[in-house]
Amino acid sequence: MKIFSGSSNKLLSQRVSKALNLPLSKFEIFIFPDGEKRVKVQDRVVDLHCIIIQPTAPPVDQNYMELFFMIDSLKRSGASRVTAVVPYLGYQRQDHVFRDGEAVSLEVIRSVLEVTGLDRIITFDLHTIKTPDLFKIEFVHLSALKLFAKTIKEDKLFTKDTVLISPDMGGIRRIKILSSYLSDMPYATIYKNRNLLTGEVNAVDIEGLPNKHSYTKAIIVDDMISSGGTIISASNLLHKYNISQVCVFATHPVFSEKVPQLLQESNIKRVYITDGIEIPPNQQFPKLKIISISQIIANNLLNNAQ
Ligand code: R5P
Repeated sequence: MKIFSGSSNKLLSQRVSKALNLPLSKFEIFIFPDGEKRVKVQDRVVDLHCIIIQPTAPPVDQNYMELFFMIDSLKRSGASRVTAVVPYLGYQRQDHVFRDGEAVSLEVIRSVLEVTGLDRIITFDLHTIKTPDLFKIEFVHLSALKLFAKTIKEDKLFTKDTVLISPDMGGIRRIKILSSYLSDMPYATIYKNRNLLTGEVNAVDIEGLPNKHSYTKAIIVDDMISSGGTIISASNLLHKYNISQVCVFATHPVFSEKVPQLLQESNIKRVYITDGIEIPPNQQFPKLKIISISQIIANNLLNNAQ
């Protein structure tokens, strides 16, 4: 087995490589003056299972193109099998037509990945559990929820006056699983509206809040933070219900430009994310805590080495 890192998350690649006790093999990635990339594998890979670690976080399109080229380079060089570890699968939210005339971007991504000859893809906490069904190749859907449960206990957030919150209806499955890892901790769900044109989010109401007003703390759990609108709006609504301490757990920090500042200045106490997307030091902020998924990835790779 050989393991390679794309440009998108070298830190995670190094952590997985360390956990596997397997040094990173190399690609030569040359960028032409017009921005095109030339990708060339530098190690011998004939008849070997090759792993590429490349979350397709922003810049999403650039990271996808690099991933496509890396897979092609390995396949042409004789790799027997290629597994792509893509903790964050870009375009996953565009999985059907929301408004007439739209492209189904995830379908396009799926087709290209399959055409390149990718054999297996490993992702984390997908927006919808139906995504794996779209793919014809082997699809592994892992989760950071057990790590979140462990951190909630370690950081003493698991208290009687705390409720788990899904910031939208789509997150109910996620919140139920996390609750089951925490001795059936109580949970509730926020009903939110999103303007499909502007992307603006508005948390409208809370459904299923057990014994209304008896909770003073909440843990919001989401798959991703992108504009930050969902969790900030959810936290503002919770504060109206006298819930004065709100922490957030999200697997994918797909932070758009101003999100670090928005979150630091929000009424959210702490934001827990994973290292599935690399946050450069200049985008990290005091409220941020990063949890590593590297061991989960390493364990899965070890169990499926062939
Ligand atoms: C939406 O349904 C997802 O689960 C996330 O809540 C959402 O994508 C987060 O995006 P944003 O941070 O832009 O509100």
